[in-house]
Amino acid sequence: MSSDSTKKTIIVALGICLVCSILVSSAAVALSKIQNENKELDKITNILSAGDLLVEGKPVREIYSKSVMSLLLDLNTGEVVPKENYTEELNVENFNIKDIAFDPQLSSAIDSKEDIAGIKRKPNYMVIYEVLKGDEIDKYILPIYGKGLWSTLYGFIALDKDLKTIKGLTFYEHGETPGLGGEVDNPKWKAQWKDKQAFDENGEVIINVIKGIVDRSSSSANHQIDGLSGSTITTRGVDNLVKFWLGNNGYGRFFEKQGRGTHEQV
Ligand SMILES: Cc1cc2nc3c(=O)[nH]c(=O)nc-3n(C[C@H](O)[C@H](O)[C@H](O)COP(=O)(O)O)c2cc1C
Repeated sequence: MSSDSTKKTIIVALGICLVCSILVSSAAVALSKIQNENKELDKITNILSAGDLLVEGKPVREIYSKSVMSLLLDLNTGEVVPKENYTEELNVENFNIKDIAFDPQLSSAIDSKEDIAGIKRKPNYMVIYEVLKGDEIDKYILPIYGKGLWSTLYGFIALDKDLKTIKGLTFYEHGETPGLGGEVDNPKWKAQWKDKQAFDENGEVIINVIKGIVDRSSSSANHQIDGLSGSTITTRGVDNLVKFWLGNNGYGRFFEKQGRGTHEQV
């Protein structure tokens, strides 16, 4: 067979393809453990960041294991699911919002008029985080998500133990434009959320991401956040998703069960 025959060319090409595919799949298998560990570390870092718990030089896992406790919450009843009721699919370790939210058994359709976060289905369960100071609960860190302009933004909002005062907000996944909607990641913008009031005295959600800049001298400034410049749609998306998750379709039942406002802020 001549060295430049069609048959030989095909055999060599197939051989190269086979070797490359073995190399790529071996690398994927070998790296998947590291990827999963990094994903987990990234999630923990974001939970701590929302709760303003990161300490420079202190390992993230150490801070998390000492001060954060995860709980599985039934969003329809507002009750914490006892550990003995965990299943292979529903537990704090393997909980994945995206899987649960698209599982017809574990999620429910949201009436389009009430779907201000643009997520169509609501998971019936959510993993939430209690931040402990000694034996006492100091803060709650709650997952939130909803539509921006180009993407669904996934993040966390931290509330003080009074369940009224916001302690932080961070997004760990989104596809908004860097420099525009992507400014949700800007530390200066995120810092504004700290100590803002989420609810009025009747428990109505009053936190508002406005279009433009907050008038710091106004009496409403304690529940307003600057809009993102040139990014009205992302701004409106963040405003809506925060309102959705703090409202009756989100963590409302949980807030009722906890007796919002019974822990006064010190
Ligand atoms: C390439 C490109 C990327 C954009 N990315 C965003 C974005 O991430 N978020 C957003 O709200 N608007 C984005 N916009 C702008 C929107 O199309 C829209 O004009 C804007 O939300 C209006 O905001 P304004 O009223 O503050 O100007 C983008 C526009 C372009 C051309």
